[in-house]
Amino acid sequence: MKAIVYATYGSPDVLELREVEPPVCGKNDVLVRVHAASVGAGDWHLLTATWFAVRLYQGLVRPKRPILGHDVSGTVEAVGSAVTRFAVGDQVFGASENAGCFAELVRVPATGLVHKPDNVTHEQAAAVPASALAALHGLRDKGRIRAGHKVLINGASGGVGTFAVQLAKFYGAEVTGVCSTSKLDLVLSIGADHVIDYRHEDFTQRDERYDLVLDNVGNRPLADCRRTLTPDGIYVAVSGAPTRALWIALFGGQRAVSFISQSKPEDLEDLRELLEAGQLTPVIERTYPLAEVADALRRLGAGQARGKLVIRV
Ligand SMILES: NC(=O)c1ccc[n+]([C@@H]2O[C@H](COP(=O)([O-])OP(=O)(O)OC[C@H]3O[C@@H](n4cnc5c(N)ncnc54)[C@H](OP(=O)(O)O)[C@@H]3O)[C@@H](O)[C@H]2O)c1
Repeated sequence: MKAIVYATYGSPDVLELREVEPPVCGKNDVLVRVHAASVGAGDWHLLTATWFAVRLYQGLVRPKRPILGHDVSGTVEAVGSAVTRFAVGDQVFGASENAGCFAELVRVPATGLVHKPDNVTHEQAAAVPASALAALHGLRDKGRIRAGHKVLINGASGGVGTFAVQLAKFYGAEVTGVCSTSKLDLVLSIGADHVIDYRHEDFTQRDERYDLVLDNVGNRPLADCRRTLTPDGIYVAVSGAPTRALWIALFGGQRAVSFISQSKPEDLEDLRELLEAGQLTPVIERTYPLAEVADALRRLGAGQARGKLVIRV
């Protein structure tokens, strides 16, 4: 099968389109014929390995898993002997914990997949898993979002942010999105009540106070972010270097939380229902062919994507 592989850490230049052996389906796995995948922050970190913690997982000197890509949508090609939820021919989407989605076939543990709603394309479904799960976990589980809450989303126009705006509105919050000038319209169009253009204004210097700040950028000092909170407000760091998470752990207490999102089947089901009901619509900047994964990752690495970047396989 064709796949995008890498044998050394580095920039997207190290990625190559190659012919490789297809994966073997384990007893708890599903083999998926990939129709679409999407690029995400996880792929960027595993490619560049600029954080040492990444090398502890992916290999100290060179990557142990040569194919990136965590989000997938496609058709079930084969199922393991212990899998009962899926059958050959099912249309599925989800998150592959071992990556491998920038390929024609990928092996995914059955717990990482759900059925794709018919009203959503494979490109749209592939845009969802990692980014929407991070938004869901950040808002609902860590941020304890409630109807009527005033919620600020820093980095509202990117992969996580465009899902977070829609989910916060779904939960009944009053939403303020922070983004650059050219994306103000986008963030308003997906439901934000207010927008702040960070090129002209620093959200931490306003008088406004928020019940929840979801930070997808991590570019403002922690002390300033916490000052934007109501007395019992919560600051949730989706983004930020491990050192920021350390500061949060040391000084965060109850009102500042850092987390790493994990895919859970029940959460993917929640997202599937929202997609099916039309309450969540992925924002896709552009779709690239498999051979151009490196271009998609370059765009992602520039940190200015308008929603998600999708790979068509
Ligand atoms: N904790 C987790 O489990 C988890 C999961 C997924 C992702 N993440 C992290 O979450 C972060 C966001 O991921 P993503 O996929 O949404 O990235 P992304 O798609 O690249 O989006 C980043 C967004 O940040 C915005 N931005 C850049 N500078 C900004 C500034 N000064 N103020 C406000 N917004 C700014 C950009 O918007 P403009 O173009 O408008 O500037 C861009 O849309 C990444 O750091 C990623 O590593 C964490």
